[in-house]
Amino acid sequence: MNQIGKLYPYIRRYWKRALLALSLLTSLVFFDLSIPRLIERIIDQGIIQKNQQVVIQTALIMVAISLVSTLIAIGNNYYSVQVGESVARDLRDGLFLKIQTYSFGDLDRQKTGQLMVRLTSDVAAFKNLVQISLRIGTRAPLLMVGSLLLMINTSPSLALTMLPLLLITSVIIVFFIVKMEPLFRTVQQKLDRLNNVLQENVAGVHLVKAFVRADFEGERFEATNEEVTERSVEVMEFMSTMTPALTMCINIGVVIVIWAGGLQSIHGNLSIGQIVAFTNYLMTTMTPLTMMTMLSNTWASGIASAKRINEVLDTVPEVRDAPDAQPFSPTALGKIVFGNVSFHYNGTNDEPVLEDINLVIEPGKTVAILGATGSGKSTLINLVPRFYDVSNGVITLDGTDIRRIQVDALFAQIAIVPQETILFSGTVRDNIRYGNPTASDEEVIAAAKAAQAYEFIMALSQGLDTHIEQRGANLSGGQKQRIAIARALLTHPKILILDDSTSAVDVETETKIQDALGAQSFKHSTLVVAQRISTVLRADKIVVIDDGRIAAQGTHQELMKNSDIYQEIYESQLGNGFHLDEPVPGGVEGMKE
Ligand SMILES: Nc1ncnc2c1ncn2[C@@H]1O[C@H](COP(=O)(O)OP(=O)(O)O)[C@@H](O)[C@H]1O
Ligand SMILES: [Mg+2]
Repeated sequence: MNQIGKLYPYIRRYWKRALLALSLLTSLVFFDLSIPRLIERIIDQGIIQKNQQVVIQTALIMVAISLVSTLIAIGNNYYSVQVGESVARDLRDGLFLKIQTYSFGDLDRQKTGQLMVRLTSDVAAFKNLVQISLRIGTRAPLLMVGSLLLMINTSPSLALTMLPLLLITSVIIVFFIVKMEPLFRTVQQKLDRLNNVLQENVAGVHLVKAFVRADFEGERFEATNEEVTERSVEVMEFMSTMTPALTMCINIGVVIVIWAGGLQSIHGNLSIGQIVAFTNYLMTTMTPLTMMTMLSNTWASGIASAKRINEVLDTVPEVRDAPDAQPFSPTALGKIVFGNVSFHYNGTNDEPVLEDINLVIEPGKTVAILGATGSGKSTLINLVPRFYDVSNGVITLDGTDIRRIQVDALFAQIAIVPQETILFSGTVRDNIRYGNPTASDEEVIAAAKAAQAYEFIMALSQGLDTHIEQRGANLSGGQKQRIAIARALLTHPKILILDDSTSAVDVETETKIQDALGAQSFKHSTLVVAQRISTVLRADKIVVIDDGRIAAQGTHQELMKNSDIYQEIYESQLGNGFHLDEPVPGGVEGMKE
């Protein structure tokens, strides 16, 4: 209930239309309840008294009431749908905007598949709750109370006879509602599982094919799918016993009415019209009960969905502006200092991924980070744009703690080429301009040239206008990486971060990229992560990371003298073609991986 309350603001925006829907619904009840009274009149004053005029007149009134009721019901549906759909749209917008504010840690915890379900199925379930409530919400209870009162009004003694039956019926209904709720919840959970399996498989369908695991995945999916079916059938079977049970109650009730009412009628205490009206009211007390069980299902799944929607909306992004956050000065130099930084991902409280990191990146210089897979290189660089916040220690930019800088202002200074290249569907030009949408073609071309992407782009069928398919399916790994580098360069960052961004590019092209990055036109501090040593040779400083700690740092020559680890890496990758006392090989041409 509380969960619905939290989403109330989304409904309140449409309160006028919601109120209109509800008032129409309420007026419908009055018409519903007037019908048995009119039937009573036709029988008692028309048929029995053989008064044709009353029969015709009353019949016409009933036709008119049916017409008006239909119009009212249409109006009610119209406004209910409008409110429901508008609420759903606003919720999707709200969720989407919220997810945009998520930091990496938040995204680690809430998986993509789950977030997608929140935006689609959960919003739909909540929409149903709103719509169904507006369509039968007031009608069911009012009909019930109204017809009960009218039953008593018609014949208090008959109403009294009905009391035990009504109690039994209520017990049956409550039993069904109580039993049904957990059943529906399991179906919902199984559906969630199905969604997860589906999401994982669709995203990884290439891999499934490549490893010929289609049969295995097929079975896994079938098993989950089967569970959903079994649970749904279980619920439906259970529900299908409910309507017959209620019908039985009604039938017994009708028999009792006719029997007890018949006796009273023989004694002249009750008219035939009254008996018929009473039977009708009896039925109208029962139908809302069936409606209410339907309502209760929709409410059960609506509340579950509202809870999950609220989880997303209530997430406070892990990384956000401090109250006293500063804008970043446009004259910034781009000097980064790591002071005693340590870091662990949430949950892994025991082993920190990074420990005691002390590192200075001077403005305009290039620092290379070298280390084995899993040593913490990506983690380290992700701390600079505050994708994650440090667990201990401090990172400063030009002397200011980065947590004191406005997040947007910080992002504006930094361009990152992530380890996994992500391209959007659109043209090559759109992709390069992603971070700087107003850049001119000249600027785009300059960035593409520096990233050594210009030549191959021109060789594409439509040059810069070539359409890139979803996730860059029509480009090679190295081509994608170079477009991603061009995209980063075009934002003219103070700090450029390359996370193994040239791993799929050949050594010669990589050297050209490095030469271009070193040129005056792109003056920035550069942090470059690499696994191959040829990438780092010419950096101003090389940092060797081993198991989350800095094992050594210095220039190539210094490390060759002082660091065993570095020498090992060097020997294993470049063989013994070079010697300690040789100058750093310019261009590193001819070296093989
Ligand atoms: N999002 C994450 N959540 C939890 N652990 C992570 C996450 N990303 C990386 N790790 C762990 O942190 C360690 C360092 O990973 P990473 O920085 O990606 O290494 P590298 O880039 O050097 O290959 C690894 O043990 C990895 O399993
Ligand atoms: Mg990495």
